[in-house]
Amino acid sequence: MTPMIGTAINRTDGWAKVTGSAPYAADHALTGVVYGYLVTAAIAHGRIKAINTEAATQAPGTLAVFTAENAPPIVPPSNNFIQSKIYEARLPLADDRIHYAGQIIGLAIADTFERARDAANRVQVEYEAQPPLVELAQATFTPAPSMFGQSMDFRQGTEDWDRVMAQAAVASTTHYTTANELHAPMEPHAIMAHWTATDALTIYEPSQWVMGSQRTYGELFGLSPEKVRIITPYIGGAFGCKAFPWPHSVLAAAAARVINRPVKLVVSRRQMTANTGHRSATEQTIQLAAERDGTLLAIGHGAKSATSPVDVFTEPCTGITAAMYRAPNLLLHQELGVLNVGTPTFMRAPGENPGMWALESAMDELAWQLTLDPVDLRLKNLTQAHQRWGLPFSQKHFAECLRTGAAQFGWGDRPPQPRSLRREGQLVGWGMAGSTFPAMRGAASVKVQLLADGSVQVFTAGNDMGTGAYTVVAATTADALQVPIETVRVAMGDSRFPDAGIAGGSQMTASLTPAVMQACQDLLATANCATVAQACDVLQQSGQDAFEATATTAAGAEGKQWAFQSWGAHFCEVVVDEAMGRLRVSRWVAVMDVGRVINAKAAASQVRGGIIMGMGHALMEECNFDPVGGSPVVYDLATYHVPTQADVPRIEVTFVGKPDLNFNPAGARGVGEIGITGVSAAIANALYHATGRRVRSLPITPDKLIGV
Ligand code: MOS
Repeated sequence: MTPMIGTAINRTDGWAKVTGSAPYAADHALTGVVYGYLVTAAIAHGRIKAINTEAATQAPGTLAVFTAENAPPIVPPSNNFIQSKIYEARLPLADDRIHYAGQIIGLAIADTFERARDAANRVQVEYEAQPPLVELAQATFTPAPSMFGQSMDFRQGTEDWDRVMAQAAVASTTHYTTANELHAPMEPHAIMAHWTATDALTIYEPSQWVMGSQRTYGELFGLSPEKVRIITPYIGGAFGCKAFPWPHSVLAAAAARVINRPVKLVVSRRQMTANTGHRSATEQTIQLAAERDGTLLAIGHGAKSATSPVDVFTEPCTGITAAMYRAPNLLLHQELGVLNVGTPTFMRAPGENPGMWALESAMDELAWQLTLDPVDLRLKNLTQAHQRWGLPFSQKHFAECLRTGAAQFGWGDRPPQPRSLRREGQLVGWGMAGSTFPAMRGAASVKVQLLADGSVQVFTAGNDMGTGAYTVVAATTADALQVPIETVRVAMGDSRFPDAGIAGGSQMTASLTPAVMQACQDLLATANCATVAQACDVLQQSGQDAFEATATTAAGAEGKQWAFQSWGAHFCEVVVDEAMGRLRVSRWVAVMDVGRVINAKAAASQVRGGIIMGMGHALMEECNFDPVGGSPVVYDLATYHVPTQADVPRIEVTFVGKPDLNFNPAGARGVGEIGITGVSAAIANALYHATGRRVRSLPITPDKLIGV
């Protein structure tokens, strides 16, 4: 059998998705379902003086209206990322306080969606408003708390930072900013909460972490986890915003219990602005000190971001800095402020994306300052060890990414002066940047069954948030059992299946593939057969239904010996119309070192998706707030701009493809997030080459391209 792994495999769930037969959360049909609609705050800071639900309650079809005055019972969960985790520590309808515009202050439930929305609109609220703080510049900053047990600060080398900076041949301090970015997945947030008994809850909602959700809902309602079932066969995009329950989900499930009916709640795009997470704006400072030949002496990286008044989330921008370039002196520092905005959260390459924007912009500026090729500057400062963890990288083919990308792009032909390339009367510029993302791997369990007819079934609670995990599991199974991929059926995203951890941190492929390989091996061992054909013969002769095996795999002690990280290089061309203030990305070459590539087609598409999302981060995406009222000035996909087909050029993606077998038996490090990192810097660097204009503030909107 020709191996599937490494080839370009069509998505096994593609047909179901394009024909609409793949059920998303709100598509599930339940008998007796009723509809919820959220009531949200019209002010950004203050309290509710009075709330009148009479008109709402009396409206036709209304079944219930919940506010802080009759909040359904919810048990505070341990909320520690291990037993349970909710995105916002404050429980919904906890009290009369308003912390941000759009905060959930009520839930109307009716027999139809339209009547629920109507009832929600009939709730009358009298507020006592206070001035909101919504801009990063207004926040009071304090040192960011540690994240996942790691301090946000790190220092290596000198105690006298200022002296290193003062004595270096070249030294620079530059400031970079990024905007608030909204999650904008295709599938809006939605939940169907069904109490199948007084002590048994079934939840249909997009969840990147089925078993985490199971435990969390268990804690929220005083149930043991087995009494909770989470069903998430498909997710229409997640990127970090669908990993834990948000307040709307907690409230919907609590309300469903009180009224004893299954409740369907779909969060509107407008409501998603405040209630389902965003990436905080950042202000970053990069300090670089170097010898004349470009050898780095010091890298300083400071970052500020904001959280909401009701939870703590730091955008961890400095996490990449000690991994990228060697410098005897390193100084990393993060600060956090509090604003009257919804709670920020993880968003594709949280920290890595804005962090690489700042660092890779500053590296480009240094290259210009030294009249060095930016590729050479990076090659000169490679580090083969993670300077913070003090461990060698298991593999690092960053240099190969840089060299291959440069050759493919034709970087050697780049004129070394800004404003020296023109096409059809417009300025053309070439830019590049590095790309990186750490490799993670979690414990994962998979059950594999072989039926007498030769078909194979695979079950795991791990899920596919649109990334292609179904296909990865099917291909890995097909290769491990030497069967055609068409005979493999994969079922994912149900808490009744074996636990495979979280679809986050780009780790689902790295976690799942070793478990699949092991389960397939165990299955043949159970059958006491060398091949599937032999095992099928045994099944047919014995009349037994199936052989099955469940395997669990996890990372071992290898993390004490090596640091695992993925690498890449982006090269791009931009065309700039200075009169119109228009920047178009016209060409892209990316080379990625992500270990073994399982599905060449899906992996390249993941990287392309990351690059396109990076183009949004670079050029379009921003959510500003009215400084007086505190409401967001964007609220849907018409006002919040993301790249569309017309904005995206041909994107060439190449993989180094060397398996990282120290990392896991599949040698695959994961590919979900790395693509976005470095994209915005590559574009800004190309803009500088085109125009001589350095933009240090994202997004690079037309106003930043015209005038002085
Ligand atoms: Mo990703 S931000 O870990 O879903």
